[in-house]
Parts: sequence; structure tokens; C-alpha cells
Amino acid sequence: MRLVLVGPPGAGKGTQAALLAGHYKIPHISTGDIFRANLKSGTELGLQAKSYMDKGELVPDSVTNAMVKDRLTHGDTENGFLLDGFPRNVAQAEVLRAFLGERSRPLDAVVEFSIDSNEIIKRLSSRRTCKACGKIFAAHLDKCDACGGELYQRDDDKEDVIARRLEVYAEQTAPIVTFYRGEGLLITISALGDVSAITDNVIRALNSKVN
Ligand code: AP5
Repeated sequence: MRLVLVGPPGAGKGTQAALLAGHYKIPHISTGDIFRANLKSGTELGLQAKSYMDKGELVPDSVTNAMVKDRLTHGDTENGFLLDGFPRNVAQAEVLRAFLGERSRPLDAVVEFSIDSNEIIKRLSSRRTCKACGKIFAAHLDKCDACGGELYQRDDDKEDVIARRLEVYAEQTAPIVTFYRGEGLLITISALGDVSAITDNVIRALNSKVN
């Protein structure tokens, strides 16, 4: 299964990606997570990305496209992959289409999560992430229930940065929904409700689309 998840910040892409990647036994490739991991280990890529992420802007395509293409050449993507946070504009979507086309490995589907802005703001302001394993939580616990790691609030989950991320989504990312609808790949799923019910809805929709 070769999948892309699309949706505004806080729609639950990372939460659903972890569950869907487990279900389909494919790697979860999150560009945001790769940038944050690089930042944590102090690489040049991490430092470069930070200046954009802190403002809620997209990291330049030249950096992001090269990083994703490199990741998609790893052996664990042979049987599929789930992209979370990429592509994020039509130019990235075109680069991805060409890259996969050259390898005769086109996407199977693109899942769009729909959600309103009030719910997004509520979710992002209470989100906490585990420093050690990356698990995402909806409320502030003392520590991670999976590994006992320390929880932190992302730097880009501040009110003014959230507002800019939403603008960037509307201006630059939302057009890829039209792009993928035109390609016949789009599935739209409500991001509201119980997490496991949403996963089930995605799997059901993918089963009827892909099989
Ligand atoms: P990225 O890390 O991709 O962030 P994002 O797209 O803004 O998405 P989020 O991670 O904020 O939200 P999510 O949809 O994954 O929601 P989550 O599951 O955490 O990107 C960060 C930055 O990196 C970008 O701004 C940009 O600078 C850069 N970047 C990344 N990719 C790039 C690219 N391709 N090109 C250029 N730049 C790029 O859920 C949110 C909260 O809601 C959590 O607390 C969760 O527990 C809770 N929740 C989830 N589901 C539910 C539910 N059903 N009900 C109630 N609560 C729920």
C-alpha cells in the first residue's frame, strides 16, 4: 500500500499514521518528524528547518524533496509506505508523482482528513509528545504511557504559529486536495470522533478503493 495522508495541522495525521502503518505493516514517513529528529541531533538539516518551522512556514521544496526522495529509496519502502506531511504543495505533489512514476510505483490512495479550525486549535494547544518515542497525547499526562519518557509541547504549537500554519495550509497545501481528486486518488474522511473509529473508516474506504 502506497499512501499519502493530507489534512490541516492537528487533524490527527500523525495519530492515524501510526495506527495505519501498523495495520498495513509499512513505514510511517513523517517529514515533520524527520525535521524534528534532525533538530534534536543538531544536524545542519535540522537547523535549516527550524527557522521555517518556528514561524509556521514550509521548509523550502529543494530541501524537503531531496530528503523524501532519499527516504523512499530505503529498502523498507519496497512493499509500500505512508507519507504524513508530504506533499504539502502542488510542486511537491508533482515531484512525488514523477519520482514514483519513474519507478512504476504510483500511489494507491490519498486520504484527506477534514476538520474545522476551532477543533484544531483545541487539539494543538493541549497536544503533548513523548521526547523518547514520539507518541502523541491529547492531554497533559506526567509521562509517556508507552515508554515512560518525558512529554513536551512542540515549539510550533503556540497560538500565533498555529494561526500561520493554518493560513499556510489553506494557501499552499489545500490545492493538493484538488490535484489528487483529479488523479482519482482522493478519499475524504471526517477527523472527528473516536480515534479507532476513524482508523476503521479509513481502512474500510481503502479496502473498497484499492481492492
Ligand atoms: P508536521 O509535523 O507535519 O505538522 P502538521 O502537518 O502541522 O501536523 P501536526 O503534526 O501538527 O498535526 P497532525 O495532523 O499530525 O495531528 P496529531 O495526530 O498530532 O509539520 C511541522 C512543520 O514542519 C511544518 O509547519 C513545516 O514547517 C515543516 N514541514 C513538514 N513537512 C513539510 C513539507 N512537506 N514541506 C515543507 N515543510 C514541511 O493530533 C493533534 C492532537 O489531536 C494530538 O494531541 C492528538 O492526540 C489529538 N487527536 C488526534 N486525533 C484525535 C481525535 N480523533 N479526537 C480528539 N483528539 C485527537
